[in-house]
Amino acid sequence: MANTDERRQYRDETLPVEDRVEDLLDRMTLREKIGQLVGTWAGDLESMKDVDDVATEIVEHGVGAVASFGWAGAHDQRLENVVDTVNQLQDVARSETRLGIPLLFSVDAVHGHAYVSEGTAFPNGLGMAATWDESLTESVAEVTAAEVRASGAHQNYSPTCDVARDPRWGRTFETFGESPYLVGQLAAAKVRGYQGDDLRDPDSVVATAKHFPAYGEPTRGEDASPVETSEYVLRNTFLPPFIDALEAGAESVMPCYNAINGDPAHGSRHVLQTLLRENLGFDGTTVSDWHGVEMLHESHRVTPDHRGSVRLTREAGLDIASVDTVDHADHLRSLVEEGEIDESVVDQSVRRVLRLKFELGLFEDPFVDPSTATDVVGSDEHRAKALAAARKSMTLLSNEGTLPLDDDTDILVAGPNADDPIHQLGGWSVPDPEGTDIVTVRDGIESLADGTVTYERGTGIASTGDVDAAARAAEDADVAVVAVGENWYLHEFGPNETSGTDNDEFPNRTQLDLSDAQRELLEAIEATGTPIIGVLVTGRPLAVNWLAEHAAGLLMAYYPGTMGGRAVAETLFGDNEPSGRLPISVPRSAGHLPTRFNYLRHPTPIGEEEHPDSYDPLFAFGHGESYAEFEFGDVELSETTIGPHGTATVSVPVANTSDRAGSTVVQAYVSDDVSSRVTPVKELRGFDRVTLDAGESGTATIQISAQSLGLVQADGSRTTEPGAYTVKVAGQEATLTVGPGSD
Ligand code: NOJ
Repeated sequence: MANTDERRQYRDETLPVEDRVEDLLDRMTLREKIGQLVGTWAGDLESMKDVDDVATEIVEHGVGAVASFGWAGAHDQRLENVVDTVNQLQDVARSETRLGIPLLFSVDAVHGHAYVSEGTAFPNGLGMAATWDESLTESVAEVTAAEVRASGAHQNYSPTCDVARDPRWGRTFETFGESPYLVGQLAAAKVRGYQGDDLRDPDSVVATAKHFPAYGEPTRGEDASPVETSEYVLRNTFLPPFIDALEAGAESVMPCYNAINGDPAHGSRHVLQTLLRENLGFDGTTVSDWHGVEMLHESHRVTPDHRGSVRLTREAGLDIASVDTVDHADHLRSLVEEGEIDESVVDQSVRRVLRLKFELGLFEDPFVDPSTATDVVGSDEHRAKALAAARKSMTLLSNEGTLPLDDDTDILVAGPNADDPIHQLGGWSVPDPEGTDIVTVRDGIESLADGTVTYERGTGIASTGDVDAAARAAEDADVAVVAVGENWYLHEFGPNETSGTDNDEFPNRTQLDLSDAQRELLEAIEATGTPIIGVLVTGRPLAVNWLAEHAAGLLMAYYPGTMGGRAVAETLFGDNEPSGRLPISVPRSAGHLPTRFNYLRHPTPIGEEEHPDSYDPLFAFGHGESYAEFEFGDVELSETTIGPHGTATVSVPVANTSDRAGSTVVQAYVSDDVSSRVTPVKELRGFDRVTLDAGESGTATIQISAQSLGLVQADGSRTTEPGAYTVKVAGQEATLTVGPGSD
């Protein structure tokens, strides 16, 4: 008789993964299989009670996945506790379960490992998108993956592939903005950075493209509300970033909470099979968005009860129910035992989960080393990367010449977001950043200024403060840097937010204005005659009409992360060239929505070609000023006619005519001159970031493939229609013709 080791092929790391999967699957009971398909939530991993509860679920129910380190209620997530808990639970899974299958830990490290106190927080999604820099985004994801893996987790619930189509929506800050192309490029960069070359590497984690297929345009901006979208918009706008992320190799996909055209994604065979697996060719693992399964009966009411929801999601093809633990497992077992769900459905999902665990090398070593974790998480090198990202995200919306500031300027620093680490990190971060070394705007300015710096907060986000003290201080200053915007979503909600309890992750709003309290502060400072430099610390484009008119300079800082205040200060003093570009349009008001650059052509009643200027954005998508000055030469196309599989290179000479180094983002928009269906007035199809020393010249080059100009047809297919396309680059236009041939 063979000895135990020979029989246990799944333990043999020299065998192919598929053989190991089949060997293990053969050995598993139905209960053990189902355990692999349910996850649990370990709370904030701080309290031993949580750990004991999780251990019980692992031993008694075979639970195979644990999500996530942090959550709204979590506080101080110390790294040493996280590592300790992970190791304890892996030990339970290994030594107290029959087959010793390791656990899959997942986390929301959506802008760095920001749910761990010592972790490095990068700019949140919108800020990262403002860099228009794929390689920087990829390296940020590499750092994130290294920190996540070092602390014991294996799957990151990121990247967000949602296209933001309504800034009232509270999760706009997490997105890469409103261009399907830009979102897709950066999402793909994140996937590459997270997963690296091999999931076994100590700095690789599984990427999760979310929230499939369409989350970014919920009704009236209310999170998780129905998305009513046409097949045209779905395939033209929402799916492309997912296609890019999957092409980059994303191993996992998370469905959205919403009903899409009446069909909740978690229970939709159309979404999870037809669209995702058949149309997009995905063969990885799907994981529910938190309680997305229970929502089917509790909110959407498309099933009568939990058992019905389990059945619907399993028929739809969901693999892991992330936190719907013991009840889900019980229902699924009885559904299989009573013949309502075929065991092959379970087997198929289990294969996917086991494959991931083998690919991650967890059967060989599921544990993490506390001292490695301490060295990796929040290292100086990682903080330097956070600074580099924040610097590149800084987007100068306007400048009347006051910026950059002289080093010896006397400055009043004011506003609710000038010295608030929590607001500066934005969502998906530790709510109690004790132990986290965050450089605020005030810190940054104080450390760089040679003149006198006075700090007066003046007001909260919504609650009033000592406006008079701030105005008095402004009188003595040369300039007032006022950091306004929004609060991090768990704290102090303003009057026009539609939600905002302590456990609410979705700060939806009905208006996009600054709060009255902040307006009062700004007006009081303006009345002193001291010029205002507005710094917007916010997770969405705000309708800052007053500031745009009255400020001497306006800097969009987004939620800039750990080193954000330093990046703001360097930008104000001219030590950092502002080179961020808006990844989303800034509307004039909520009443002007939708405000987006790629709106569909449409007739106007008075017969004009364009819609009235009053619908124009306050600041356009792609906008961002520089201190350096750039001049552009004539646009050239490598070929003016290409076949349906051809590619043309657009090139534009760029000269830095100023006496300072700088960087600009050359953007290529394309419109279809005549198309069988209505197309956008323009769509972003490529960009190139060009960095030039003072007086230096270079060339921006952008590839445009005919395939990328494909038009979604009524049957959902995509074809590139022959004909002329107008390419708009650097204020110029050129015509690219796509011929009818086959090449
Ligand atoms: C809900 C969010 O929608 C999703 O983005 C996140 O990954 C999960 N919760 C887990 O925290």
